[in-house]
Amino acid sequence: MTLPDFSIAGKKAVVTGASRGIGRGISLTLAEAGVDLCVAARGKAELETLGAEIRKMGRTCVVAATDISKQEDVERLARTAFAGLGRVDILVNNAGAMVPKPLVPIPGFNPPSAVGIPGFFEPTSNEEWHRVLDVNLTAAMMTMRAFGPHFLQRKEGRVINISSVDAAKSSHFRVSYVASKAALCAFTRAMAVEWARHGITVNAIGPGYVETELTRTQLEDERMRQRILSEIPMRRLGTAREMGLLVAFLASPAAAYITGQTLYIDGGFLA
Ligand SMILES: NC(=O)c1ccc[n+]([C@@H]2O[C@H](COP(=O)([O-])OP(=O)(O)OC[C@H]3O[C@@H](n4cnc5c(N)ncnc54)[C@H](OP(=O)(O)O)[C@@H]3O)[C@@H](O)[C@H]2O)c1
Repeated sequence: MTLPDFSIAGKKAVVTGASRGIGRGISLTLAEAGVDLCVAARGKAELETLGAEIRKMGRTCVVAATDISKQEDVERLARTAFAGLGRVDILVNNAGAMVPKPLVPIPGFNPPSAVGIPGFFEPTSNEEWHRVLDVNLTAAMMTMRAFGPHFLQRKEGRVINISSVDAAKSSHFRVSYVASKAALCAFTRAMAVEWARHGITVNAIGPGYVETELTRTQLEDERMRQRILSEIPMRRLGTAREMGLLVAFLASPAAAYITGQTLYIDGGFLA
């Protein structure tokens, strides 16, 4: 028997960064659970494909081409979501960016395939630093500011921010990414406290390794892949669907008393 407390059927969700990878997986999992969606990213064609797939599952899906780092795009996303769904119950801030690094081996330096000047760190320009912070942190603030009044008025809402194990444990050549993900967890706690009295929960999930565009360069390198797997006690990568299932749980009535938390889902990596 399935407890009704775990059901999110009939809810309406906005998922950012839905054009591929984890965001796509989260969207499909929510649709599978009976949720109507507004999916956002810059890649309109990929969103249209996802939208068609979700509609085939019998759910409503509105597509919103959005650069989540731009205030005017976030405002348009909110208008599109309200027009298409009528209301929003769940906001998933999943869009994420990392500074791309070409594969150039550095002799004697670990990890062997990473690039950089040993002892230096990766954000080579203010522009790159801000781009990562804008997408991974500021965008979540802007979407919460856009959807917040609606949640506050209705005295309900679930916000789920997609952070990373990197928020808790750093690794080489990810300085801006690590800083942005840790800040996202702190922002999650701060907003959870702000909104707790208003029936809104704000949580984060911290995925371990999932094979996506973001991790492709690392995981395509066989030595690096084996090294990563050797650090995961379950000896396997996570899946986008597993991330989606945790999001579905946090959005469900069963998770009503959980707020301000980061739940790591990493096959034991951080343990
Ligand atoms: N994969 C992992 O192992 C892993 C581990 C821990 C945490 N995460 C986190 O999980 C989330 C999803 O990552 P992923 O692995 O699925 O990466 P991905 O395949 O690179 O997907 C990133 C998503 O974010 C969107 N995005 C990037 N910049 C955007 C912008 N300016 N405006 C709107 N959308 C933007 C991309 O869409 P467009 O390019 O179409 O805009 C895409 O849909 C990220 O927050 C990432 O940090 C991933």
